Amino acid sequence: MLQKRDVIITSNTIVYMAQLQVENITHSYDINKERLPVLNDLTFSVNTGQFVALLGPSGCGKSTLFNIIAGLIQPQRGRIYLNSKRVHGISGAFGYMQQKDLLLQWRTVLGNVLIGPELQKRSYIPFIPLENQALKLLAQLGLQGFANSYPSQLSGGMRQRVALVRTLLMRKDILLLDEPFGSLDAMTRTVMQSILLDIWQEGRQTVLLITHDIEEALLLADKIYVLTARPASIKAEIDVPLSRPRDIADRELIKFKSELFQMLKVEMEHVFDDQKHQN
Ligand SMILES: Nc1ncnc2c1ncn2[C@@H]1O[C@H](COP(=O)(O)OP(=O)(O)O)[C@@H](O)[C@H]1O
Ligand SMILES: [Mg+2]
Repeated sequence: MLQKRDVIITSNTIVYMAQLQVENITHSYDINKERLPVLNDLTFSVNTGQFVALLGPSGCGKSTLFNIIAGLIQPQRGRIYLNSKRVHGISGAFGYMQQKDLLLQWRTVLGNVLIGPELQKRSYIPFIPLENQALKLLAQLGLQGFANSYPSQLSGGMRQRVALVRTLLMRKDILLLDEPFGSLDAMTRTVMQSILLDIWQEGRQTVLLITHDIEEALLLADKIYVLTARPASIKAEIDVPLSRPRDIADRELIKFKSELFQMLKVEMEHVFDDQKHQN
């Protein structure tokens, strides 16, 4: 039987299968014998080369979902498929930029960004071109001259950019980016968003990006999944058919923005209601 994640052929078009399929993921944490439901029956898919944003309020379960997709957490229910094959545990298919930058303090910036190829034993012989690529990406992200610095010598925003370069150099087909610009000031964030778009348009990797920033989702993504407050489920799936580069002052974009704002406002009210009940 044809599954929904397989290729679908209509009269003269082929709709390709999802590269990543998340099906019925449910998860909760046990804290002091209390159960905290975090994800509730999440189902969605991402196609090859797509840029997809997961937009949801803080604390709704977004990072937990990424840890499950990357195989770091075993979900209580549900399945993850890559190119229609079920994956169990760590697949190694993802370039994962976690919300905390997790840089190694004893390594230089260059040592940190080259760790992916090094661990994958991509040999030291063609290492020079890779090193050149690392230096080029660092420069592109405004870190020229910092290759030999240590993480402790950098600001939070700079460390975050180092973590992004490290993720890009893992050269995986799918990138999981968990609030990659969360520590950046508004101006730097705008610049970094457009650089990320350039990199994505050059390489056409599949990107799944977590954000709680409506404008960020609208400036970057082909498709936005809006999540509810915790326990997160999919509240809406929104296609963004606007051409790039996008302008936050664009009339169509502003329409999407107010629609998304209304949706998230309702979810934020749930978060505050919950907190009132707990206090
Ligand atoms: N390892 C953990 N153990 C217990 N609770 C956790 C753990 N990780 C996250 N949580 C809780 O789960 C909820 C969702 O967290 P998280 O996935 O980080 O949300 P988000 O990334 O959307 O902010 C939060 O209430 C958080 O405190
Ligand atoms: Mg998070």
